[in-house]
Amino acid sequence: MTRHKVIFDTDPGIDDAMALLFLHHHPEIDLLGITTVFGNASIETTTRNALVLKSLWEIAAPVARGAGHTFNPARERGEPPAIVHGDNGLGNVTLPADFSTETDPRPAYRFIIDTVRANPGEVTIVAVGRMTNLALALGEAPDIAGLVKGIVIMGGAFGTMGNVTPVAEANIYGDPEAADVVMTAPWKVVVVGLDVTSQTVMTRTMLDQLAADGGERARFLRDVSQHYMEFYSRFVANGIMVHDSCACVYLVAAELFTTRSGAIRVASEGVADGQTIQKPDGRYFPPGPWDGKPSQLVCTGIDAPAVLALIHKVIARR
Ligand code: RIB
Ligand code: CA
Repeated sequence: MTRHKVIFDTDPGIDDAMALLFLHHHPEIDLLGITTVFGNASIETTTRNALVLKSLWEIAAPVARGAGHTFNPARERGEPPAIVHGDNGLGNVTLPADFSTETDPRPAYRFIIDTVRANPGEVTIVAVGRMTNLALALGEAPDIAGLVKGIVIMGGAFGTMGNVTPVAEANIYGDPEAADVVMTAPWKVVVVGLDVTSQTVMTRTMLDQLAADGGERARFLRDVSQHYMEFYSRFVANGIMVHDSCACVYLVAAELFTTRSGAIRVASEGVADGQTIQKPDGRYFPPGPWDGKPSQLVCTGIDAPAVLALIHKVIARR
């Protein structure tokens, strides 16, 4: 059996919560740590939510609190998207008051550096929020780029519409400078963006079936997802896009995706602010900002029914 050592960098977040339960229940995944970042809610709230989920689901991995502000301190991004994830980041459902508030003593970027150095060539970072913690870790310790096994990112929109602006996806738009640092670093990045996650819709019926098959943990997921489903009714009938779980599925079932290789840059100003742009390998263009940057993989296709079936199977496993 292949084993995957994983750091989950996250901003819980409703779809983040589902992704976390997938990682926790998957038999081939060793979750080494949960690092939090601001995004779907403030850093105080996303960290509190990670701690609540850790207690509720009896997850052994530590939680390390991460960045509460963008990589470039001058950049402001306004209020968190309560319309999507609720004021409490978890669908405004009343959360258990009884949970351990103990976090790892290190900030997230330091936790990432130490864990990667302690497990050379073995750690995959699954990053499903803003890329701030990863950019900070690279800034402090560039050597980790040669020590990680890989990076799987939920973020970006390449051949499809964005979800915050017509060209920008939320995780990238939330900290474009950090995303550009991460995409252009000499490590292996796979980007699971809206091109594929927006096709991966868990219907209300599927979510109810998951709650029926998966016990208390899955019922909690169904309950927190109601607010998210209301938001998504603008785009899909009776369903939710399971963005962050798609990145976790890539880790264990890459054969369910098709990818394209090429250097990626992130725009950080003007109307294209937050846009992710790949220059496919082998395609001629005059000299430009992609030159000399490493080729990364962008997911361009997905077997959505198989991905949804795997999410169900793994989460319902108790
Ligand atoms: O655009 C979708 C992404 O933004 C997901 O990671 C979601 O949790 C939000 O962070
Ligand atoms: Ca997220």
